[in-house]
Amino acid sequence: MSMGGVETGALYREPDRNLAMELVRATEAAAIRAVPFIGKGDKNAADKAAVDAMRKFLGTVSFDGVVVIGEGEKDHAPMLFNGEHVGTGDGPSCDIAVDPIDGTSLTAAGRPNALSMIAVADRGSMLDASSVFYMEKIVTGAEGRGVVDIRKPIGENIRALAKAKGKDVSDVRVAVLDRPRHETLIRDIRAAGAGTRLLLDGDVAGGINSALYGSRIDMCVGVGGSPEGVATACAIKALGGFIQGRLVPKTDEERERGLAAGLRFDDVYEADDLVRSDNTFFVATGVTDGELVAGVTRKGPVIRTESIVLRSRSGTIRRVIADHLAEKWLDD
Ligand code: FBP
Repeated sequence: MSMGGVETGALYREPDRNLAMELVRATEAAAIRAVPFIGKGDKNAADKAAVDAMRKFLGTVSFDGVVVIGEGEKDHAPMLFNGEHVGTGDGPSCDIAVDPIDGTSLTAAGRPNALSMIAVADRGSMLDASSVFYMEKIVTGAEGRGVVDIRKPIGENIRALAKAKGKDVSDVRVAVLDRPRHETLIRDIRAAGAGTRLLLDGDVAGGINSALYGSRIDMCVGVGGSPEGVATACAIKALGGFIQGRLVPKTDEERERGLAAGLRFDDVYEADDLVRSDNTFFVATGVTDGELVAGVTRKGPVIRTESIVLRSRSGTIRRVIADHLAEKWLDD
């Protein structure tokens, strides 16, 4: 039986709280395995090491996951491709979004802010936007709900958010990917009197940071990956924040493919369109140091990882610091 795309019935079990802590093992493993490739200039090798490690650990997690957002089509991505089943096959049925490294170029260059992430939600609830690469997004904390809107000019949104947060416009920081396509947007943010936090890569962390209480970033805007938009929505639901997205096809062919897949280009995707379920999980482990999570470090016999674990049902944000005996990571 199916209810709003979510399977019900005797065999269906919802993902529960235990899953989050299981998943973090997979992002930790991906981050640790990416370490030898930090700053070595080969982003594909870094990604492959992280993908292999994540897949291996996901195989031990008690759930029946279908990759909705993965490394791409099967022919191009030998592992963690869209549609692949992961997990032991027992336990809850879920959609899963994986990005073994968000920030492969950052990792290869040895720059900060690369992380490994997984988002999970009830089966059938995540938007499959894989046919359209880019999505325009706006992300804020709870104060932005009913206050900002992606259809409004950025200056208006900045002023409205500043008022809702009780701060001066000049104190508002807006994260945006540093890309030529954002030249006007960046100019408009500064013309409104706010400051920018230009991201070299990694708008998942940028989005989450804008919704985290006490963060120095107030808003994340601009065009980034659409898979990253759906994954961010899973985290934002757990943080009680605000997100909207609009798909941006690059070519006519992409537009056609998107339309055939049932995607809409004129509409705004609200959080509940990006992920219909209110039972979402998001876990991320730092690869290199970032504002959201610290990167992997090695001290003597111990490898230390830092992760964030978010769960929408409980509204919890956990930070998990784990020390791993390095000798256990020597082989395979
Ligand atoms: P990858 O590391 O997976 O390549 O993604 C990095 C990233 O910066 C995302 O965070 C962002 O959504 C997307 O790329 C933006 O795409 P582009 O680099 O084409 O502007």
